[in-house]
Amino acid sequence: PPRDDQQVFDALIEADSRVEPRDWMPDAYRRTLVRQISQHAHSEIIGMQPEANWITRAPSLKRKAILIAKVQDEGGHGLYLYSAAQTLGASREDMLDQLHAGKARYSSIFNYPARTWADMGAIGWLVDGAAICNQVALCRTSYGPYARAMVRICKEESFHQRQGFEILLALSRGTEEQHQMAQDAVDRWYRPALMMFGPPDAESPNSRQSMAWKIKRVSNDELRRRFVGMCVPQFEALGLTMPDPELRFDEETGQWEPGPIDWDEFHEILAGRGPLNAERMRRRRAAHDEGAWVRDAAAAYARKQTERPAP
Ligand code: ACO
Repeated sequence: PPRDDQQVFDALIEADSRVEPRDWMPDAYRRTLVRQISQHAHSEIIGMQPEANWITRAPSLKRKAILIAKVQDEGGHGLYLYSAAQTLGASREDMLDQLHAGKARYSSIFNYPARTWADMGAIGWLVDGAAICNQVALCRTSYGPYARAMVRICKEESFHQRQGFEILLALSRGTEEQHQMAQDAVDRWYRPALMMFGPPDAESPNSRQSMAWKIKRVSNDELRRRFVGMCVPQFEALGLTMPDPELRFDEETGQWEPGPIDWDEFHEILAGRGPLNAERMRRRRAAHDEGAWVRDAAAAYARKQTERPAP
């Protein structure tokens, strides 16, 4: 029997198939994806700042080369994700305008300062580690272009996480002062990294619908618990103390449960009042303005190519 668009879409989701750009989809599904993918893209781009800030101060040529490559990867992820959002009809210019006008969200984590070289280790290990935990689940998200983008991004993030771990390991096994520097960095980044997964499930307005559409495959709290579980043995391997005195192992679920999280801090950051929100936005706008000549030159080149008579 002939079926209407909604039924075809529902069946696709039910069957765990992928929705592709030319398929019919409910407007709200499209809007949710544009929201999430553009927020994700902005996070990658803003996320370049805390580490870019350390490139000139990396302690060796090798560390500098690795850090440059890592920051460049994040820029690539952003472009990849903007392209995925464009397949839904969103324009890249509009998405960037929203960001620069302060109307778009990006991950809370990038509003904290990177104070020492050890922070490069903590960001790579904890921040990219949390990002992977979330993004491995997104490799099975229902929208095809987003799911496929995640596969490559996860591979690159895994390398980032290892390089962060290795920075911390070198410091942890170094002098007393270096060990302390590593501990201080993870003390400051651990809780903000737990907030990356979003508010508790009971306070997450988008989760129920996004789970039904299989945009989200695993809940905020469940991903957070998985991440904490991954951290436990890795903290041990690093010889560092987990800054979570109330962490406990739940015998019933077989999972680690983190201690309480300061959600007021999270909401302050989302409201734009985190330690570095203003600075991150100022830098982003300046970078966009300073890059205007590159966009103009690329557009002029593209125009010339189309105007050139066919050979
Ligand atoms: N930082 C900033 N905003 C956040 C964060 C966070 N860590 N967590 C949740 N929010 C926002 C949501 O965007 C949402 O805002 P909105 O409705 O105004 O858009 C609001 O808080 C409520 O949260 P949820 O209902 O749980 O929102 P959602 O279902 O979108 O889940 C999540 C949030 C888990 C972050 C989801 O959007 C997601 O998986 N995004 C893709 C991954 C991503 O963006 N990663 C970037 C971080 S790191 C990196 O990769 C460089």
